Amino acid sequence: MSAVTRPPQRDAPKPLRDEDGLHADIRRALAASATGRGVFGATWEYFDEIGSTNDAALRAAERGVAEGHVFIAGAQTAGRGRLGRTWHSPPEAGLYVSTIVRRSALAPWITLAGGVAVAQGIRAATGLPVQLKWPNDVVAVTGSAFQFRRKLAGILAEASSGAESIQYIVLGFGINLRQTALPPELQGRAGSLEGELGRLVDGGVVLAAVLAALHRVTEDVIASGPAALLAEWRQLSPSAEGARVEWDGSGVTRTGVSAGIDVDGALRVVTAEGLERIVSGEVRWT
Ligand code: BTN
Repeated sequence: MSAVTRPPQRDAPKPLRDEDGLHADIRRALAASATGRGVFGATWEYFDEIGSTNDAALRAAERGVAEGHVFIAGAQTAGRGRLGRTWHSPPEAGLYVSTIVRRSALAPWITLAGGVAVAQGIRAATGLPVQLKWPNDVVAVTGSAFQFRRKLAGILAEASSGAESIQYIVLGFGINLRQTALPPELQGRAGSLEGELGRLVDGGVVLAAVLAALHRVTEDVIASGPAALLAEWRQLSPSAEGARVEWDGSGVTRTGVSAGIDVDGALRVVTAEGLERIVSGEVRWT
């Protein structure tokens, strides 16, 4: 999870007028699923264009907006990904969503919970058997050794810390709904739900299913601890065990075979020198 001190003040978002009907699909799906989502999406805002929904949520959290309030955008002009990357967010091509989490007991688990929720929500809404690639990329996989993989969604959790503890977390996720012109660096590595399925996908139904899954997994963690979450994550991520991987460590490329995740979410890798734990960054499947 990334730590932030103060939410950046960027271009003021333009709220979409509620009566223009542009996002009737989201309104309909959220209204129909309200009982299964707990606080997540009990209140929400839609913007036709925004800098970053994570920034909007960070500012709102700072003002005291309640846990579960959801920010949804049709496009982002400054969408952020992990490791300082840009999240390509063209108009009407994806779901760009952020929500606020305030229960501090969830803090250590929110990144894994977000990944499980997005993967399970996509599966439930579309039937597409997406997988997780450590730490939290949602991918479509073909090929027996996980070698053909297209990233369909990503999760970015950012926390604001007070003097002694985490005050709130913003959980953002981007889901590629439809195929658009991709920047060269993403060609061949990114995909979309509609591209995988070969049919139209209702973004509202996917969003409602993800929020329902987020409610379920976070309630499980609060009630019974992280064991069930870790088991679900492992089930969704077969490549976390027994796959050849490489990563950059201290300026050199390291290689090994994945050996599952630890209870803290670190990826275990068996190398020629012994067992390594990777706690952050990125691994590549070879
Ligand atoms: C990743 O790099 O895999 C994480 C991508 C997270 C993108 C989402 S889109 C909604 C929210 N707002 C942002 O600026 N980023 C996240």
